[in-house]
Amino acid sequence: MKTKDWFTDWFNTKYYHILYKDRNNSEAQLFIKNITTYLNIDKKSTVLDMPCGKGRHSVYLNSLGYKVTGADLSENSIKYAKKFENDTLSFKVHDMRVNLDDTYNAIFNLFTSFGYFDDDKQDILILKNIKSALTKNGLFVFDFLNANKVKTNLVTQETKTVEGITFDIKREIVNGFILKHISFVADGKNHAYTERVKFLDLEKMTSYLDAVGFTIIETFGDYSLNNFDADNSNRLIIVAK
Ligand SMILES: C[S@@+](CC[C@H](N)C(=O)[O-])C[C@H]1O[C@@H](n2cnc3c(N)ncnc32)[C@H](O)[C@@H]1O
Repeated sequence: MKTKDWFTDWFNTKYYHILYKDRNNSEAQLFIKNITTYLNIDKKSTVLDMPCGKGRHSVYLNSLGYKVTGADLSENSIKYAKKFENDTLSFKVHDMRVNLDDTYNAIFNLFTSFGYFDDDKQDILILKNIKSALTKNGLFVFDFLNANKVKTNLVTQETKTVEGITFDIKREIVNGFILKHISFVADGKNHAYTERVKFLDLEKMTSYLDAVGFTIIETFGDYSLNNFDADNSNRLIIVAK
């Protein structure tokens, strides 16, 4: 049965992972390699990847020598990620709206894993939880879509076939949210999900981070760490402390 929260249902399905199959490990590894080089964090550092999904960034971070925890709401994704656990890599089911028990030298929130809630207070609560789980001088890395570019280049209709499933995708921007309606037939059934992400641009995100006491130290516009440009960048990447 579907819950009222789209993100609880959709991200927990195998279909989500099929649709985004091309957003793969090599993309994740490129970004992690570049950002950890930029951050220059000690190899003994503890890193929280939240939400981690199936752990693609966590596993690679761990291979670079960091002590990594991956946390995600999706029980199926965590079950999968747990296969990669070792002495310095662990995964747990965790709702980022809930305060964390441990502290970390760096916390990563990657690949548009934010802005799912109507109420700004919920977004701010997540940032507060992140801030209180950071050690002194700890770093927060935030990677989100570039809302301005999504708006100017809105692809309202698209069809994508992956692993034999044809996904019919419609996009619209309504009341400050970017909606992506995804429908498809799979395993003999009709499926329909809507991803719903807040229209968060740099200005709005800066106001959130200010409210919580974070200071932005750098912004980037893609996984190669080119400068952020509101009109042209594919991503909005923020490093804050
Ligand atoms: C777009 S995916 C990105 C996952 C991962 N960062 C990656 O790049 O593969 C967003 C993730 O957020 C998780 N998520 C959604 N709401 C959450 C919440 N309230 N607390 C923790 N995780 C959540 C989903 O289960 C999903 O795995």
